[in-house]
Amino acid sequence: MTALAAVTAGQWVRRAAAVLKEAGVEAAGLEARVLAGHVLGLSAADVVLEADRPLKPGQRAAADRLLRRRVAGEPLQYLIGRAEFWSLTLEVSPAVLIPRPETEHLVESVLEHVRGTAVSRPLLADLGTGSGAVAAALAHELPLARVYAVDIDPRALATARRNVTRLGLAGRVTLLQGSWCRPLLAAGLRGRLDAVAANPPYVALEEAAGLAAQVRCFEPPVALFTGADPLSAYRAIVAGAPALLKPGGLLALEVAPHRAGQVAELLERCPRLEAVRIDSDYAGRPRVVSALRGPAVPPRGERR
Ligand SMILES: C[S@@+](CC[C@H](N)C(=O)[O-])C[C@H]1O[C@@H](n2cnc3c(N)ncnc32)[C@H](O)[C@@H]1O
Repeated sequence: MTALAAVTAGQWVRRAAAVLKEAGVEAAGLEARVLAGHVLGLSAADVVLEADRPLKPGQRAAADRLLRRRVAGEPLQYLIGRAEFWSLTLEVSPAVLIPRPETEHLVESVLEHVRGTAVSRPLLADLGTGSGAVAAALAHELPLARVYAVDIDPRALATARRNVTRLGLAGRVTLLQGSWCRPLLAAGLRGRLDAVAANPPYVALEEAAGLAAQVRCFEPPVALFTGADPLSAYRAIVAGAPALLKPGGLLALEVAPHRAGQVAELLERCPRLEAVRIDSDYAGRPRVVSALRGPAVPPRGERR
């Protein structure tokens, strides 16, 4: 076994950046600093300040291992075990989707609705919570809100639980295992929620080949794929969510831009929903489809 040559943090970063660039990684320099920082227990910015610090042999070996995995396509966030979302740092594990910046529009839709209706103690739900990103952002922004976060995958819920606990939100975020709306109905939330948000899986299996290898090979299939029908998760959510919402409550769904029209049509066809809307992200692509729960149907005797 040959001993690894001694290198400083700066030397390792320069070499790693070149290797990553060669492998087609866009932000090669930044990613190299993040990887070095992860091994050294420093921020990427501090790696620059500590460029002359020598890497110990164990650190050099660990950094080289991470570099090889990154070159093989593994997302940076899985390698360092965290991702930024909203203003929060979240733990990510291979059991959860890496939260995407575009999902922040889903959070914004719910915040706009809740702030516009001035409910003092909103009850909210995040279906398919994954890392808990949407639920945590909502609970963080709305200090009097209670958020119910549902996922079918217990391993995802374990990651979400660590996130809400570390962020001090565990007292207001309730994690429930099960399929879409069912655990919420079972928890007695019928007609009580001010908003239901979801970023469900929306890639049909036949579309899998079109995904970037970094996504297809490393992110959890249950978070990405829907089987043959790309709208199946939306259909299940639209079938269950209106019963959970208060009259005037919001259902907000993240969509792939090319599916926005079809999801809007699903919402239009639901007799208990109204005011269907499509909102775009900062790039102008349709991103969130939403609707409001219509007024409650009065009990039989009261109908005119
Ligand atoms: C696209 S990911 C979204 C994760 C997270 N909300 C985000 O935006 O980063 C979809 C999530 O839905 C969950 N999921 C898939 N099928 C489900 C079902 N039938 N009921 C509840 N959650 C489900 C997956 O485990 C995954 O965490």
